[in-house]
This record gives sequence, structure tokens and C-alpha cells, in this order.
Amino acid sequence: MSMEKSATKSNQNLCFPRRRGQIKMKILKSMVKSAVGLASMRSQSGRGGSGSGSGSSTPSTATPSGYDSDRKLNFTNKIYNFAIDFNTIGQRGLHDQKEKMKILQILRRKLSSSQIRSTVTPSLSLAFFYRQLHSSSNPASFGVAFDIDGVLLRGSNPIGGAPRALKRFYDDYGTLKVPYVFLTNGGGVPESKRAKELGSLLDVNILPLQVIQGHSPFKQLMRRFENELIVAVGKGEPAEVMSEYGFKNVLSIDEYASCFDNIDPLAQYKKWTDKLDGNQSSKSKHTALSNDPCSQRVAAVFVVSDSVDWSRDIQVLCDILRTGGLPGKEIAHQPPLFFANDDLAYQALFPSERLGMGAFRIAVESVFNAIHPAALKYTSYGKPNPSVFKNAETVLMHVLQSCHTNHQVDGRKQFFKTLYMIGDNPSVDIKGARQAGSPWFSILTRTGVFKGKENHDDFPADLVVDTVEEAVDYILSKECIS
Ligand code: G3P
Ligand code: MG
Repeated sequence: MSMEKSATKSNQNLCFPRRRGQIKMKILKSMVKSAVGLASMRSQSGRGGSGSGSGSSTPSTATPSGYDSDRKLNFTNKIYNFAIDFNTIGQRGLHDQKEKMKILQILRRKLSSSQIRSTVTPSLSLAFFYRQLHSSSNPASFGVAFDIDGVLLRGSNPIGGAPRALKRFYDDYGTLKVPYVFLTNGGGVPESKRAKELGSLLDVNILPLQVIQGHSPFKQLMRRFENELIVAVGKGEPAEVMSEYGFKNVLSIDEYASCFDNIDPLAQYKKWTDKLDGNQSSKSKHTALSNDPCSQRVAAVFVVSDSVDWSRDIQVLCDILRTGGLPGKEIAHQPPLFFANDDLAYQALFPSERLGMGAFRIAVESVFNAIHPAALKYTSYGKPNPSVFKNAETVLMHVLQSCHTNHQVDGRKQFFKTLYMIGDNPSVDIKGARQAGSPWFSILTRTGVFKGKENHDDFPADLVVDTVEEAVDYILSKECIS
């Protein structure tokens, strides 16, 4: 069941008038006819040209010199020109996917009944025509940003028909036809690894470029802290994430905490930690670093993903932040602190929402402010910050360019007529898309944080649907793509 906000963007004018399509179909049919004629000419010349019926395809021995090779070249050129003409029609504006499918059906029928496929070179095969049609037709004038938790996945489980919905953005050959990105506040692993994980969970091919995580903007801070000691906090592989961004002197909070005896007075009660393994890997990393990190000043702290051990992390963060980056020493100026997002809650496997990084930030801030004379200073990234949506627009343009390699895509940002944000969290996804303004269009699903019947009161979406599959149905029919 979907509910559209009043006066949402109309879908009229997005489809081409039928009449124009019919004219193109006429032209195309006659082109197909001549291609088929060329094909039969080629097949006849192939039979006659060999002269011996031996099946040999070596022109120098089986055919009169110059005759067949000229004829073959001529034929190849004609077929090639046919392909170019076919493309030209595509470039003039065959936006309507139904129309394209009709054309492809005719080509398939006609070409398979001829001997074209067996006689022309592979680059001029049906697949060539098909790919050319897709790659050179006008690029999509819309893009889609998918939130992950609560829209596509709950924990590691796909939800809301997510794999089926994403498949509709690819053609029969698995080539991306609609530019889309994952715009999540989550993270904890490098984008390349997340792309692989998502690909296997959702059963589609995903480029690392398509994955924008909460911590992705940390890359921009690399130059500032490139060679400084930084501490990376959170589940997964926070230090690997930062190293991949180019930071050269990074320790995870596990590694950093293990430098200091008794920094966590509760460690002995934490039966789940494998102390031996942890210490061994940390020690080898410490010796690998040029200076002993325990005596080095921490220049900044990055909360990359959700903290696993709040009590230890709050303690160690307060130690670092109150002492200018030298735990156990005198109070000094606070080093910069960065959070990948400020989500109070998110939807995981448990029926009700779980506390997110925003909740952890409140905990750190409350404790810090209670024990320190100056208030905590920090910067939070992630949705709903408008910069995240601006960046997503740029990334979508790059994704569009990657699916239209031989088409000159207009680099201007206004190129997209509509950008759809599909999210489950009104105060994060919908608020963000609303603040970003045109061309963003917000779609709220009921599979995650939002479970209401009507629209959200404070951050109403342009459209409310039950699932991501319903959202994709809506987008494709609005954009006239079957
Ligand atoms: O930690 C995950 C979370 O805060 C939200 O992820 O995909 O809903 O933006 P997402
Ligand atoms: Mg979400």
C-alpha cells in the first residue's frame, strides 16, 4: 500500500508519445529488413565463395584471391553501418524501455532466423547490438540512493523483496541500467569489502564506488592527519578502514587500549575478550610502528562504527580527550573527535530499534562534560547532513558515467531530474532528503525504524510505501521503465 504526499512531482511528460515511437518502429523495421537481407547475402556468398563445399574458411587457399575478402569487408561495413544507424535512433531519444524491448524482440527474431550470428564477427553479434543500444541510449535522468539497515537488510537478512527490486536495475546481461548507490550511515569495513558483502547478500554485482558509508567522508581528513597517530573506534575493522583512506599511523581502540596496563579496570570481568590473541596482534603492530604509541600523542579520534564495549571505550576516550591525547598525563587541550553518524537508533534484527552511534555520542558527551571543565567538541558526519546528499549526487553521476562508457554524460550536477532517497528513518533519511531539496524525492518504507500507518508528522516523506520493492515499482513506472 503506498501513500503519496499531496502535490508530489508529477510523472506526466516523462514518457514519449506513442506516435513518435510508432514512426521509429517503422524506420527500424525497414532497417532490420535490410540487415536480414545483408545476412542472407553473406551466407550465400560464404557458401558460393568457398567453391569447394569443403567448409574451409581460409580465404587464401579456398577462394579466389581478393574476391571473398572484399565482399566480407563490404558486408561487415554494411552491418556496422546498420549498427550505427540503430544507435543513432537510440541517441535521438528512445527513452521508453518498452519501445526498446519491442525493437530488441524484432532483432532477436529476425537475426536468429538468419545466419548473421554464425557469419559475422563476435563484436557485431546480437549482444553487440543489445549492449550498444543500452550504452548509447540517452542516460537515465534519475538516480536512486538506498538506505541499507531497515530498507534492504535487517542484520544480514534481505528484507522487503530487496534482491528482486535491485535486479530490476540491471539488464539481461547484468549490466547496470539505472544509476544507484547505497547511502548508509553504517560501516566498519572498507567500501570495497562492503560492496562484496552486499553483492553476495543481495545477489547483484556492486561496485565499491556505489557504497557510501557513514565514515566515507573521513577520507577528506586524510591530508590533515596523514602521519599523525589517530585512534579508530568501532565494530568490524575500523583501523583498516582508515588505513585504506590513506591514514598512515592508525590504531584501533582495541590495539591502543592494550598499550596501557589497567586502563580498563573491568577488563578482567569481560570473559568474552580473547586477551591473549588481542595482546599478541597489538604488540606486533606496536613494534611495527616507528614510535611507541603509548608515548605518542593521539592527534584525533575517529568513531568509525558502533562501539562494541561502551564502558571501555567511554573510559579510554575520556582519557585521550581530557589529556590532549596522552592518557594518564595532565589535563590538556582536547584533540578533535569525529563520529561517522549521529543515529540515535537503527533497525537491526530485534523487533524494536537498537541504540546507534548517536546514543553512544550522548553517553561520551554526558560523561565527559560531567568530569571535564570544558564541554566536549565533536563533529558528526552521515545523513541527514546536506553534504552527504550533495556527495551522493556526485557519486551517482560517476556511476552513471560508468554505465555509459561510450556516451558523453553531461557533468553538470543539475543533470538528474529526480534523485530518489529510499529510507526507513524519518529523522535521518527523510529529513536529509528534504533538506537537500530538489531534485531529491523521499520515499519512506515501513520495514525499519518507521512503522506508522500514515506519513511521519515531523518529517513527512514524498511517498510512503510498505517495502523497498514497492518503492522500486513506483520509481520504474514513474520513469516509464518496465
Ligand atoms: O549502524 C547502522 C545505522 O546507524 C544505520 O544504517 O543503513 O539505516 O543508514 P542505515
Ligand atoms: Mg536505515
